Amino acid sequence: MSALVTGASGGLGREVALALARGGHDVAVHYRGDAAGAEETAAGVREAGRRAATLHADLDVPLGEPDVLETRCADLLERCAERLGEPAVVVLNAFPQHQVAWEELDAAAWDAYHRAGLRPSAVLLHRSAARMAEGGVVVVVGSIEGLRAMPGHAPYAVAKAALHHLVGAAAHELGRRGVRVVGVSPGLVERAGLAQAWPEGVTRYRAAAALGRPVRPEEVAATVAFLASPVASGITGTTVTVDAGWSAGPGW
Ligand SMILES: NC(=O)c1ccc[n+]([C@@H]2O[C@H](COP(=O)([O-])OP(=O)(O)OC[C@H]3O[C@@H](n4cnc5c(N)ncnc54)[C@H](OP(=O)(O)O)[C@@H]3O)[C@@H](O)[C@H]2O)c1
Repeated sequence: MSALVTGASGGLGREVALALARGGHDVAVHYRGDAAGAEETAAGVREAGRRAATLHADLDVPLGEPDVLETRCADLLERCAERLGEPAVVVLNAFPQHQVAWEELDAAAWDAYHRAGLRPSAVLLHRSAARMAEGGVVVVVGSIEGLRAMPGHAPYAVAKAALHHLVGAAAHELGRRGVRVVGVSPGLVERAGLAQAWPEGVTRYRAAAALGRPVRPEEVAATVAFLASPVASGITGTTVTVDAGWSAGPGW
């Protein structure tokens, strides 16, 4: 059985690809800028005993060219099917990570952000689910910022909240065909150098999270693998928060 993970040249996407490989999936590693990183992820998938393919696609397409985005998503899925078989699992992980300050948020900035994030996620969800046989699963990577926005992160938080809603809406559209749509909502994810790069953010997160720490990428990835597996066959239309207990706090 094959899986496609978007934005899997590093970070959380790589951990998800590896977790799915360990769970018995051949994995198509989608990437945009980092071909070497994608090859590294693919090598890890092969080490886990599964087949891997790296697939390039830039899903940030000018708003005036909707057909180009449709074609690019269709082409990505087609290449995955040709290399590894029709994906039974698609993980929508790719998302812009830059933030736009409130003062900079004019119409062009809103357009640019959603063009790169929410729009391709929605189109790829639609396209991939349409091809899926019964038992197919789409996993959407949201964020705790879809629950509560950080100052200075408005477009990111708004897009992630929309993705959480898309999970429920799409689940209702697709459930009768036996296709599930689920989400994971990670908290601050641990990575090398995070505490040095953003000491005050990590300190605040440690203070706010029930477990007193950020979440580990493998913890998020394991949740994705669980939700994508038949063990989770009764779960659809909902987003599971994996945040070391940050959202359980009072927030004040
Ligand atoms: N890190 C955290 O603390 C955290 C917390 C909550 C949720 N998340 C979510 O987890 C996911 C992975 O994040 P990460 O931290 O691992 O970040 P990351 O390493 O920057 O991964 C993001 C990936 O998405 C790709 N991408 C973004 N926009 C794209 C587009 N329009 N077309 C094609 N590829 C695109 C990037 O490609 P390029 O390399 O070419 O830019 C990159 O491979 C994201 O959905 C993020 O919102 C992360």
